[in-house]
Amino acid sequence: MDMPEYYRQRATYYERVYHKPERQSDLRAMEACLPGPFAGRRVLEVACGTGWWTRHGARDCTHWLATDLNPNTMDVACNKAMPAGRVEFATVDAYTFDGLGQRSFDGAFSGCWWSHIPLERLASWLELLHARLEPGARVVMLDNSYVEASSTPLSRRDAQGNTYQNRTLDDGKVHEVLKNFPTCDEAFAALGARARNPEWIAYEHYWVLNYQLA
Ligand SMILES: C[S@@+](CC[C@H](N)C(=O)[O-])C[C@H]1O[C@@H](n2cnc3c(N)ncnc32)[C@H](O)[C@@H]1O
Repeated sequence: MDMPEYYRQRATYYERVYHKPERQSDLRAMEACLPGPFAGRRVLEVACGTGWWTRHGARDCTHWLATDLNPNTMDVACNKAMPAGRVEFATVDAYTFDGLGQRSFDGAFSGCWWSHIPLERLASWLELLHARLEPGARVVMLDNSYVEASSTPLSRRDAQGNTYQNRTLDDGKVHEVLKNFPTCDEAFAALGARARNPEWIAYEHYWVLNYQLA
């Protein structure tokens, strides 16, 4: 089963990960910091899933286009209260951005997506994203840190250095999912020539990366 299909099957109970007690203080702090960087901006959200971050990031924006390959995860998002009149959803493949037409943005956000990008695709994916963004655009990415007592254990590492987890869905079937846990230095090194003044905030269970495009 591929990654999109895994998340399609998990859509209705995906948000259990956001109810883990040990993650609550990190989540509240990250949610509170999300609107600021996007105030007054036109933002592209990549792989929005069930829209956990969407309603926080979009609070003070001008417009927010939340995209995902899976209509099923976005169905959950569409049933949530979002900042009025500002949030639009679209089915878009993050590896092509086909369907965005000529639209460009001065902000981009992605939650828990970076970790699923194979290392050998990361630089080209960031270039593809940056090509959609105007000079001066603000980019924020956040994702999980590996925490022994809370994260699903890593099952293997491949020749490219990607790490994997075996995850069990509610039907009992086990799926292998690529999940990388970059360090700050690794993430900064991947960003490419247009990234300016990158900042990395390390929470206990998550990291947040924030930078501006030249
Ligand atoms: C870990 S979830 C993150 C969801 C949400 N951003 C969050 O942080 O809660 C990963 C998401 O990536 C989506 N996805 C998988 N492959 C994709 C692709 N090629 N293009 C766009 N979205 C994709 C899945 O449907 C899923 O919603």
